Amino acid sequence: MKVALVGYGKMGHMIERAALARSHEVVCTVDLFASDATCITSDSREMIDAIRSSGAQGVIEFSHPASVMNNIQTLIPTGIPLVVGTTGWKYRLEEVSELVALNKTALLHASNFSIGVNLFYRMVREATRLMAAYEEYDTALFESHHNQKADSPSGTALDIARIVMDGNPRKNTLVTDAFTRKPESNELHLSSVRVGAVPGTHTVWFDSLADSIELTHTARNREGFAMGAVRAIEWLSALDGDGKKKLGVYTMDDVFDC
Ligand SMILES: NC(=O)c1ccc[n+]([C@@H]2O[C@H](COP(=O)([O-])OP(=O)(O)OC[C@H]3O[C@@H](n4cnc5c(N)ncnc54)[C@H](O)[C@@H]3O)[C@@H](O)[C@H]2O)c1
Repeated sequence: MKVALVGYGKMGHMIERAALARSHEVVCTVDLFASDATCITSDSREMIDAIRSSGAQGVIEFSHPASVMNNIQTLIPTGIPLVVGTTGWKYRLEEVSELVALNKTALLHASNFSIGVNLFYRMVREATRLMAAYEEYDTALFESHHNQKADSPSGTALDIARIVMDGNPRKNTLVTDAFTRKPESNELHLSSVRVGAVPGTHTVWFDSLADSIELTHTARNREGFAMGAVRAIEWLSALDGDGKKKLGVYTMDDVFDC
């Protein structure tokens, strides 16, 4: 298929390689600054014109948390299936869902496109279900990423926090700041570290007086995100089981159906 990339930085280049490896054509690359992009612009109109005239059948957006909402609002009205990898906008999901419905199009978003992380989410869901029955276990979350990451906590960590809070009614308040007092038992502490070149590590701790259980996902590189994003756009632009165009908002859970 013909793919357009919005945001042609580290991920954009990696996604291009992954798309080519799966026999797709990258017909347009849009960026604010990247000198090797086919369209260098900060103008929404120019971005749309470049994407439309390229004949792109799908768009993949990996830009910057400060740009993503404007890009989403610009790209949805094109009606071209859109995969969004940039994080930091999920609190506006309702607004985005309405825009997707209004324009009868499809958008897929995920704070993490790797297969391993999406399987890890399922493991955390099941572990939380098991551990929630035992009051002696407290839970906390930890994530670390490279020092170029613009948002904190990571979108993946926030997804994990949501899974833990959905599965354990004793944890109903997320705390992402440092504590200046003793934590309350209903508070779920999520701490973030930014250092060096870490591609992404997420840990869920279950801790009691007797022992500690840690579940950790460690990304080795970012190739998994790029390949996941390409698989996502393939899935999103393919017809559904009834032979109809996919419409609405999806996540990676819909792609990795297992
Ligand atoms: N969901 C996932 O699985 C996943 C995985 C890795 C990274 N990310 C996210 O993807 C984003 C990009 O990561 P990266 O490592 O490629 O960053 P990067 O800084 O290397 O590249 C981002 C590029 O986007 C461009 N950009 C910024 N605003 C733009 C706009 N309005 N229009 C077009 N281009 C614009 C920048 O000029 C830059 O070239 C980050 O927000 C990161 O957190 C998500």
